Amino acid sequence: MCGIVGYVGRADNGHQHKALDVVLEGLRRLEYRGYDSAGVAVLADGEVFSAKKAGKLSNLLNELEENPLPESLTGIGHTRWATHGGPTDLNAHPHLADGGKLALIHNGIIENFAELKEELLAKGVTFLSETDTEVAAALLADEYQADADLEPKIRLTVAMQRACQRLEGAFTLLAIHADLPGVVVAARRNSPLVVGLGDGENFLGSDVSGFIDYTRRAVELGQDQIVTITPDEVVITDFFGLPATGKEYHVDWDAAAAEKDGYPSFMEKEIHEQPRAIRDTLLGRTDANGALILDELRISESILRSVDKIVVIACGTSAYVGQVAKYAIEHWCRIPTEVELSHEFRYRDPIVNEKTLVVAISQSGETMDTLMAVRHAREQGAKVLAICNTNGSTIPRESDAVLYTHAGPEIAVASTKAFLAQITAAYVLGLYLAQLRGNKFADEIRVILDELSATPAKVQEVLDREQEVKDLAASMKDVESVLFLGRHVGFPVAMEGALKLKELAYIHAEGFAAGELKHGPIALIDEGQPVFVVVPSPRGRDSLHAKVVSNIQEVRARGAKTIVIAEEGDEAVRAYAEHVFYIPQTPTLLAPLLATVPLQIFACALATAKGFDVDQPRNLAKSVTVE
Ligand code: F6R
Repeated sequence: MCGIVGYVGRADNGHQHKALDVVLEGLRRLEYRGYDSAGVAVLADGEVFSAKKAGKLSNLLNELEENPLPESLTGIGHTRWATHGGPTDLNAHPHLADGGKLALIHNGIIENFAELKEELLAKGVTFLSETDTEVAAALLADEYQADADLEPKIRLTVAMQRACQRLEGAFTLLAIHADLPGVVVAARRNSPLVVGLGDGENFLGSDVSGFIDYTRRAVELGQDQIVTITPDEVVITDFFGLPATGKEYHVDWDAAAAEKDGYPSFMEKEIHEQPRAIRDTLLGRTDANGALILDELRISESILRSVDKIVVIACGTSAYVGQVAKYAIEHWCRIPTEVELSHEFRYRDPIVNEKTLVVAISQSGETMDTLMAVRHAREQGAKVLAICNTNGSTIPRESDAVLYTHAGPEIAVASTKAFLAQITAAYVLGLYLAQLRGNKFADEIRVILDELSATPAKVQEVLDREQEVKDLAASMKDVESVLFLGRHVGFPVAMEGALKLKELAYIHAEGFAAGELKHGPIALIDEGQPVFVVVPSPRGRDSLHAKVVSNIQEVRARGAKTIVIAEEGDEAVRAYAEHVFYIPQTPTLLAPLLATVPLQIFACALATAKGFDVDQPRNLAKSVTVE
């Protein structure tokens, strides 16, 4: 939520980068984090110049074309997902203070802004916007003025330290001051911020895509840290001025990975990257004998052997991964596994202890609800293992261990390739635990791993037939409601299919456990109601297939138009479906990696047919950094 960029450069560093260009390029890449407004501020000739506009970044670009800002080597930029105050020009960031000499941008929520505002109003400060950010700007200006005798170089840093000591909540703040060309001061608590290291220039970003065009050297900052960047220096302290350090790392993808690569949208590109995302997530996780090795898990084998309960915490799409993980882990490892939405887990006094393994699943690694749940679980003595796609993000840093997915940057707001990569990582974790705890023999694990290794090619087969799904979506562009049914691992797939359709096409969509149908939801079925049904393999156990075929008949008898996702060779479903989309054969537990793909393509194509922006759906943001 909210994208933040900062830049400082030296005139003679040979790059000839201009602050405004760097900042706007960063905002373009970070716009997926919020698109309610965008704004920039630069320093030139001892003054702050700023521009901001409600709506997408393109509105700001038009404004800058009409009213250009002066050239500069110091700048900050912001793209907003509105919290306090609606998405208007006035509420857009940057917010100015100190008579227009200080500009500040913010990601997060300042919880004690009301009392600070009262205090500042009493001092005669006036406010133009409804935001908590303007209060932070005024507080920073107040602290800056309070120490007029300090050496100019450190005055803004000290003011930031003091302001942060008073702020409560979640915030990343970036500030520039007219007195200090070549300096950007930033702070972070519970919100993301990374530093990009350049040569005669330095960068700040909500994540590395904010500066990936210029450097792949990044520094991960810790909680409650302040960083001051100049063209030649990066100085990190805590909120009390004590020296602190960040962790430098190399970004293993480049700017090309964050481009559309000829696809009409990032979402389509990312759907097509899924075979690679699964393959890369499996890469390097087995030894020469085919046994799983997870060196990166920093939790000892004896602790993992003693785990008596697993709790998966996550939100949204990542939580559906948790449901798939539950089926796989319980089946393979016989460890009771619960799945809970992070925001519910955190506030219901959950029973976790030293024998609980909490698995936190998050693409971004920054979801505030999941981060808070991680902290809560650790306070109760549980070990936390993160499954995460974003190197250097907060959730893995605050967890005991991390299993990174290697889906590459996911830019489209709706998650696709991260979903399949997370499911893959969850399978790897389940098989690793089964190996470690002796629940499965090595040859049994190898058979499943071989099946898993075959899935990227099978996903590709599904993608090769995408036109079939796109045509179906185009023919259904005026439907008002779509239902999704599934059983077993098909249930979370149905939920995911419905979520994608809600997010992208803004139509009513619901996913149900097929067995639940006759306990209520079947009342929704009316003549012509489209119902997607995810059918398990007929080769599977427990007559699961027969049960789902019965469910199809039940809805059809009441007028539903059924669209069935079934395994190749499953001729039994043909008689009951208006449309069948066949996926390659795979074991039931692994089927979500294939069955989800046509549902993603369907949602994307239907939204496109309705003329919606699939990369930036309304009201959403990629990384939900507020509770
Ligand atoms: C849906 C979607 C969201 C995220 C959720 C959690 O397409 O993207 O539901 O899955 O906000 O985000 P992460 O995985 O970053 O914690």
